[in-house]
Amino acid sequence: MFRVTTWGESHGDSMGCVIDGCPAGLKMGPDIIREELDRDVPYPVLTRRVEENRFQILSGVFQGETIGTPISIIIRNSNVESDKYLKIMSRPRPGHADLAYRMKYGHVDWRGGSRASGRTWAPIIAAGGVARSLCSIRNVRVGSSIVELGGRPITDSNLRSEIERLAETSAKEEDATGGIIEVRIEGLPPGLGAPAFNRFHADLGHGILSIPGIKSFELGSSREAAKMKATEFNDPIRVKNGIVAPASNRAGGVLGGITCGPPVVFRAIVKPTPSVLSFQDTVDLTKMENATISTEGRFDANYTPRVLVVAEAVSAIVTVDHLMISGILDHDSLVPRQERLRYDFKT
Ligand SMILES: Cc1cc2nc3c(=O)[nH]c(=O)nc-3n(C[C@H](O)[C@H](O)[C@H](O)COP(=O)(O)O)c2cc1C
Repeated sequence: MFRVTTWGESHGDSMGCVIDGCPAGLKMGPDIIREELDRDVPYPVLTRRVEENRFQILSGVFQGETIGTPISIIIRNSNVESDKYLKIMSRPRPGHADLAYRMKYGHVDWRGGSRASGRTWAPIIAAGGVARSLCSIRNVRVGSSIVELGGRPITDSNLRSEIERLAETSAKEEDATGGIIEVRIEGLPPGLGAPAFNRFHADLGHGILSIPGIKSFELGSSREAAKMKATEFNDPIRVKNGIVAPASNRAGGVLGGITCGPPVVFRAIVKPTPSVLSFQDTVDLTKMENATISTEGRFDANYTPRVLVVAEAVSAIVTVDHLMISGILDHDSLVPRQERLRYDFKT
């Protein structure tokens, strides 16, 4: 019911999104989008492309509130250096989408990874701003943290030093790393999701696994589940202050595909950045012979912190969709029904 379409390529003139199904009456100034887009590159030291993210809301908003019609947002690309990618015209980068795009499309935009670039997820971050505002109306909050970077555990206290270390080692070794992220959706009402298709975590997993570079989606303590006994893994059910709820949260907040009270918590593995300066084995497609490639374009030494921001946006979007499907959020309007124009329909 809450649909987001994105368009645009990494080195095209601009990119954007169309948000369809946002109710009327949501207070929406540019600040909602600005705040999220400013998080696009949380640690510039890890990336060589930092964009200003100049954007414009083209439709769906009047006098600072949504009007229920599609919201269209355009984001300009300005910091592009397309020449650096001339090499990948004929030499697909190992680990990137170049090979698969050539197999699927035959004709591709080779500049900066085109549609496969992480850059093209900025419009989702913008749409996430709208979704987050809708979530907050029902007191639902989406937060996240980095669990691991380059194989090392991350806490609040070592995050910054580990990021600086990664930037240094990546430059020295001309290589890149990945990581693990954790997202928490708190304040979710019980009952979101369905027993078979549209299970809450299946829809969430669909969204999260759609983010380029994400290799796994793990709800709750799923990884430990294979090693544990039922009596160790199952969350006991208790009553506290008149409320029945699981007393622990190894299930990750979902049972039978349906939210059941605790926060929905999941982890995702982010693979190392495919494009690196080191030489990697590939082929030269014009000569049809083995070759090597070193990527000189701008790439992220580790893009896990950026994925975190995208994953939060995707989580907010999926959550809003489910709040609407369950009737907890009106998809036409936030204006109370008694305040809308009334009419009597007689046949
Ligand atoms: C926010 C973000 C930033 C990314 N930055 C880079 C990058 O700088 N260089 C790169 O080669 N891949 C980067 N990636 C990963 C590639 O987009 C991804 O590996 C590629 O599209 C292939 O898709 P797959 O890994 O899901 O198979 C980034 C992904 C995201 C979500």
